[in-house]
Amino acid sequence: MPKIVKIFDTTLRDGEQCPGASMNKSEKLTVARMLERLNVDIIEAGFPFASKDDFKGVQLIAQEIKGPVIAGLARAREQDIDAAWEAVRFAERGRIHTFLATSEIHMKHKLRMNREEVLASAVAAVRHARRKTSDVEFSPEDATRSDHDFLCRVIEVVIDAGATTINIPDTVGYTIPDEFARLIRLIRNKVPNIDRATISVHCHNDLGLAVANSLAAISAGAGQVECTVNGIGERAGNTSMEEIVMALRVRKDFFNADTNIHAEEITKASRLVSGITGFVVQPNKAIVGSNAFAHESGIHQDGLLKEKQTYEIMTPASVGLTEHKMVLGKHSGRHAFLAKLTEMGYSLKEEEIDATFERFKKIADQKKEIFEEDLEAIVLEKIYQIPDLYALKSLYVESGTEKQPTAIIELEIEGTLYKDTGSGDGPVDAVYRTLRTITKTQGKLLSYSVKAITGGTDALGEVTVRLQEEDKTFFGHGADTDIMIASAKAYINALNKSSYTNIGRQK
Ligand code: KIV
Ligand code: ZN
Repeated sequence: MPKIVKIFDTTLRDGEQCPGASMNKSEKLTVARMLERLNVDIIEAGFPFASKDDFKGVQLIAQEIKGPVIAGLARAREQDIDAAWEAVRFAERGRIHTFLATSEIHMKHKLRMNREEVLASAVAAVRHARRKTSDVEFSPEDATRSDHDFLCRVIEVVIDAGATTINIPDTVGYTIPDEFARLIRLIRNKVPNIDRATISVHCHNDLGLAVANSLAAISAGAGQVECTVNGIGERAGNTSMEEIVMALRVRKDFFNADTNIHAEEITKASRLVSGITGFVVQPNKAIVGSNAFAHESGIHQDGLLKEKQTYEIMTPASVGLTEHKMVLGKHSGRHAFLAKLTEMGYSLKEEEIDATFERFKKIADQKKEIFEEDLEAIVLEKIYQIPDLYALKSLYVESGTEKQPTAIIELEIEGTLYKDTGSGDGPVDAVYRTLRTITKTQGKLLSYSVKAITGGTDALGEVTVRLQEEDKTFFGHGADTDIMIASAKAYINALNKSSYTNIGRQK
């Protein structure tokens, strides 16, 4: 029997922490529902002490999600731990995850604490957490750059204080597989009470080794892996959940290990997280990239036609990737529309069904065939977007070989209609300059990308933008059969997120 490695998903905490990936409460709950369908073992839902919104998001997830353990992160301080517990206490099973750095660099420069002080604080934090719950995880932050003897000592005392999971973070993505495996073995051999805790690993991807390091740690005895959907996270990201899950599944013969994950939900989860955060998945990304199962070369195609296993180590269906299938058309009624959304895992409220159905009908008039991906885009656009301060009323763009691109835009801002005209270097530039004039904003466009959601010239175009406003980055997302409209919607979506953050409105 393969050993089961627990999947601790931190998309909503470490993933959400990276610049531009912040989600509102309802978006977080949607991602949590997806993680529930994936059957992850633990959802780290946030850092409750960090902000009121974070607290409320974790609390909502703890109340709504059944099955996975719900964890809240806390520094090794009583107020943090109290907030984490208050947020997760209504979960079927709640976990407090507390952490304190143990490397010389962090202790000296960040914490300004000596070793004895760190030991005492770690023990006090775990004891405090244990008074609230029997499920306590401790992370010695920057473990891979910590002195080994000291690290082992910290682990031993926090287990004695009641920690049930010991997480070994490679906080700065510094370690390499052999070295990390050796560290896990050292901990197993040197810490006398280690059999009273599960060893977890938490790797960052600064050297592109997060998945390899996590797999090496599993071979060396780790029983839990911390990871995120699409590998999103601080800097170069965290261990990618889909890669760990499929590496273990496809190479069960090698690892003799597996997870509880329902892998057929992976593609949907990847699209949902990408759609909500605006983090586009690179085409060549393993498992979930758009080219991950595309075979271009003639030799490969020929081999595949003769026998799939020649060039395919897993089937697209095993990760839930199906051919673009026409699912609905312009004659489909509300009943068929709702049945399809339910099958896709969305449970919408009556007013949400009205809004999405109305949008579906409009798109179905413009494009003959509606695919699952189109429905996902509609739900993302209509339901998981924040309330609008700015709403696009009309857009007219002129461009051509002999004409300077010009845009005329009407925008509604809190009930008042504003209209302006502007020109630019290209049609998108003209649209964005005009939007900046009307909204009196100065945002800097960091990136712009457009892709067709499905095939065909009548496909929905999906535009994603990254906009920098002062020191914050906001993602915007828009879909339409007309890419100029999709471009305007994406920019307006980013502006709405920015205004939503600035004035603290919350759904
Ligand atoms: O990377 C890290 O060290 C963390 C800890 C809080 C586990 O995210
Ligand atoms: Zn981390």
